[in-house]
Amino acid sequence: MERTLVLMKPDAVQRGLVGNILARFEQKGLQLVGLKMRTFPRAHLETHYEVHKERPFFANLVDFMSSGPVVAICLEGKDAIAVVRRLVGKTNAREAEPGTIRGDLGMSFSNNLVHASDGADTAKSELALWFGDAAELSDWEPANLGWTYNVAEELS
Ligand code: CMP
Repeated sequence: MERTLVLMKPDAVQRGLVGNILARFEQKGLQLVGLKMRTFPRAHLETHYEVHKERPFFANLVDFMSSGPVVAICLEGKDAIAVVRRLVGKTNAREAEPGTIRGDLGMSFSNNLVHASDGADTAKSELALWFGDAAELSDWEPANLGWTYNVAEELS
């Protein structure tokens, strides 16, 4: 099982899309193991997006991400990092495939509703940043796990 970070950005909150987006992940079979909502300080977002700090869009990105509440969630599942990235769709929402979150719900490159970790190393460091306290993540076993997966084939 893998864990990954998803941020529902200020545009998702302001547009009332948090429930829709969360439902897509839950309906897919991904397990919610952490959730928090807050307007995060600029310094936190600068750290999160440090890899982009030399890019021309960096200041605008940090302004946007600190402009209002963000909902941060941790999702768990088999191959969760790649599964979530596929559900989210291309970064430019105008080019994202129909059926994906950005493809169905967005029109912008910058205001693209969600962020999702792009690999195992990133997921680890981003989860450490956003859910640094282990007590913020819940270890629990969904009652329907054996219906979501074929346990003998996929989980043993
Ligand atoms: P995200 O997946 O959160 O990662 C970096 C974010 O920067 C990206 O989504 C976009 O919201 C934003 N962004 C704005 N302009 C660009 C760009 N030209 N290239 C990549 N990301 C961009």
